[in-house]
Amino acid sequence: MEFDLKCTLLFNKSLNDAREPLTDFVQEANKSNPEKFHIQSWLIEDNKLSLHLLSRDVIRAHVYLLQLKKKLDTLLGKKNHLGLRGIKLDDYHILFDLDTIPLEEIKIPFAQIDIKKKTVSLRIQDKDEEFLTQNYIDRMINLVREKAHFQRYKGKKEDWKLLWESSQKKPLWFKDPTEALSHLGWIEQGPTKGKWFFRPPAAAIMCAMAQIAIEKVLQPLNFQEVIPSMHVPLTTWLKTGHLEGMPGEIYYISEPVTRDVKKWETFIDLLKIKKEIPIKEFSQMISTPKAGICYAQCPNIYWSFSGKTIAESSLPLLLYDRSVPSARYESGGRHGIERVDEFHRIEIVYIGTKNQLLDIKEKLIEKYRMVFNDIMDLEWRMAQVTPFYLQQAGQIIEEEPNAGTIDFEAWLPYRGDRDTPWLELQNVSIVGEKYIRAFNIKTQKSILWSGCSGIGLERWTTAFLAQKGIDPKKWPPSFQKFLSDLPSSPEFL
Ligand code: SER
Ligand code: ZN
Repeated sequence: MEFDLKCTLLFNKSLNDAREPLTDFVQEANKSNPEKFHIQSWLIEDNKLSLHLLSRDVIRAHVYLLQLKKKLDTLLGKKNHLGLRGIKLDDYHILFDLDTIPLEEIKIPFAQIDIKKKTVSLRIQDKDEEFLTQNYIDRMINLVREKAHFQRYKGKKEDWKLLWESSQKKPLWFKDPTEALSHLGWIEQGPTKGKWFFRPPAAAIMCAMAQIAIEKVLQPLNFQEVIPSMHVPLTTWLKTGHLEGMPGEIYYISEPVTRDVKKWETFIDLLKIKKEIPIKEFSQMISTPKAGICYAQCPNIYWSFSGKTIAESSLPLLLYDRSVPSARYESGGRHGIERVDEFHRIEIVYIGTKNQLLDIKEKLIEKYRMVFNDIMDLEWRMAQVTPFYLQQAGQIIEEEPNAGTIDFEAWLPYRGDRDTPWLELQNVSIVGEKYIRAFNIKTQKSILWSGCSGIGLERWTTAFLAQKGIDPKKWPPSFQKFLSDLPSSPEFL
């Protein structure tokens, strides 16, 4: 890396009497590490000192400058009663190499970027001292690296490695469950896009799925239920990385600017007169969001442990939430009840030592296997995929071999033969220390790890109905133990 920095230091009064100490100071500084750092020139103009610094490799001129500033402040303060008032970054040019040649142009705020092969030339001009003190520059360099990394990552097909597959099962049905259930009036699309209303028969199937998950997976493994909030503060997603990773997929929540009815009067009057929503007036009455609707349940569960030290005797923590729905702005990807903007999921979170988590992961997989094989009789498979936290976070994270995500997928016969994409039913992840660190969760001695597993109830329902049909009499007897008769649905004339 090469750094070429021009800046101006502002003092409270003229520097004309400080030439001598400054000459000594520069000489001294230039002796400290002549290979890697050099003050190329300096110039006094009344109360301004202009510096031109050159540095390379580990000595980053923008960091070194802050050390020089401190020393200068002490030196000139003592000797010449000068006070340093601030620094202006005039022109900063940084050259550094990427691991690979980027695939597309890279742009970031506050800098001009020019890339020749792997070498990035980053230029920052006319900036205030906060650029130096708030560590913006190192983050800008990292951001360029990250963007180059993600261009490659995006271009790569998702990592997908088959781990296990069930035997083939003869489908009892080749219909799309969403179409069939809609036709029967058991589900209704809406009221807004990507949402569904489940009438009693469809709701009963979803509830049976939840019951199976709880009775056959969670309770036998001693998971305990928690009830988190559905609102997730943006500050929580700043920690998990979701806000960097998928700001365009979150449903944001606005609070009203006031609860005072008087202040809402014009809005109400317009509503009463026009009988339509006065958008302009409305937008003035709601505030900029500080939170969003749950995207995955685990961030709020981690939040609940922020800064806490968990007793070793309480480990592993085995928790699940089934009450909070998740919302994702899906846009083009929506399909039926299996790819929606609002879905119902049981999310399981486990926190413990690495060994405890590897053990719980095996036990969970064993229980899931039993459910899909022995209760639902599905044709399904497991695959190692890109970890969800890499997909959902905009950061580069060093990968830990034992961490990662396993997806459980089922064949949907209505899509065609077995080569068509299978449906992701749920996942099991080991996240390592990522969220533990982000929320500063500790225990007495051990290093903590965490992980989660999300059971999509719409996904379980779709997979089951797609393979077994909607006639309960044809369902596997093991499933009929949970649901054998469907409640009636209203008849529409
Ligand atoms: N948090 C995990 C995910 O978003 C499990 O639900 O996939
Ligand atoms: Zn999770």
